[in-house]
Amino acid sequence: MSGAVTAAAPAKINLSLGVGTRRPDGFHPLATVYQAIGLYDRVTVTDADDLTVSVTAQPRIPVDGVPLDDTNIAVRAARTLREHHGGIRRGAHLAIDKGIPVAGGMAGGSADAAAALLALDHLWGLGTPRAELMRIAAGLGSDVPFALVGGTAIGSGRGEVVVPLITVGEYWWVVLESERGLSTPSVYDEFDVLRDGSSVPDPEIPDALMTALRVHDVAALGASLSNDLQVAALRLRPELARALEQGRLESAHGAIVSGSGPSCLFLCEGRSHAVQVAGGLRSLDLGPVSFAPGPVHGARVVTTDDGR
Ligand code: C5P
Repeated sequence: MSGAVTAAAPAKINLSLGVGTRRPDGFHPLATVYQAIGLYDRVTVTDADDLTVSVTAQPRIPVDGVPLDDTNIAVRAARTLREHHGGIRRGAHLAIDKGIPVAGGMAGGSADAAAALLALDHLWGLGTPRAELMRIAAGLGSDVPFALVGGTAIGSGRGEVVVPLITVGEYWWVVLESERGLSTPSVYDEFDVLRDGSSVPDPEIPDALMTALRVHDVAALGASLSNDLQVAALRLRPELARALEQGRLESAHGAIVSGSGPSCLFLCEGRSHAVQVAGGLRSLDLGPVSFAPGPVHGARVVTTDDGR
């Protein structure tokens, strides 16, 4: 089978991110509510002799941090998929086009892995069952299973155990990006330093957040957003505190660091409110500003020209 297949995968945000004490394997137990929002990375795969990768991006997104070798998570996804099918000898070129900030706390790399899995599964005609794709995804990274699932979901384990939530209505998010990313491990390390080795109870999802989601109460959701990594991200990037404050002054219902940061999220009443809040933040020149609805679907194949 030859041709080109494109899959798209969304950015993730965490409406709540509860983090426990570091486990012996180095990961932290999480209790989180994920939401997929409408910023997408696209991965287009074409037949090639070897596995190669290239990266382009929307103009606001610097891509210097994205590796172009075997360490790229989309290439790792391709290798893992080949091994899963008995080491099949197939190559592909993976052309990643980024709409999700790099190292921004929005799981852009995980989106690339999820999109690469789906696109290659189609290009190579493998028909990998969904449950197997989910297992492969979990091996690639904590956020990759959610990139496949999308929507709104509860995450546990190290983030890889994903249970979809049925919610009503749409939410609008303004995203303030940073020119410079933050490394996820360094934020978790800082989190451990701040907790000073003391162990904490297992994290839980706040009841108020679940209630707000059930009845689509935007103001209550804004008030119940939480992120245990925020203090650590603010220690590494103190300037983000001002950004969060500005978003609140611009009348956002809630302002929070996204995952391990440095992207910041502002929950708005609806699309027109998001346009207004985005305009206010843009005029302050704190960094690139975009806005997007959530929840949106998980990764999926969007175009094929392989005759199927
Ligand atoms: O799973 P993923 O590759 O995204 O994790 C990247 C790094 O983030 C891990 O190596 C670890 O340092 C940190 N991490 C963590 N606890 C988690 C998820 C990630 O400590 N639940």
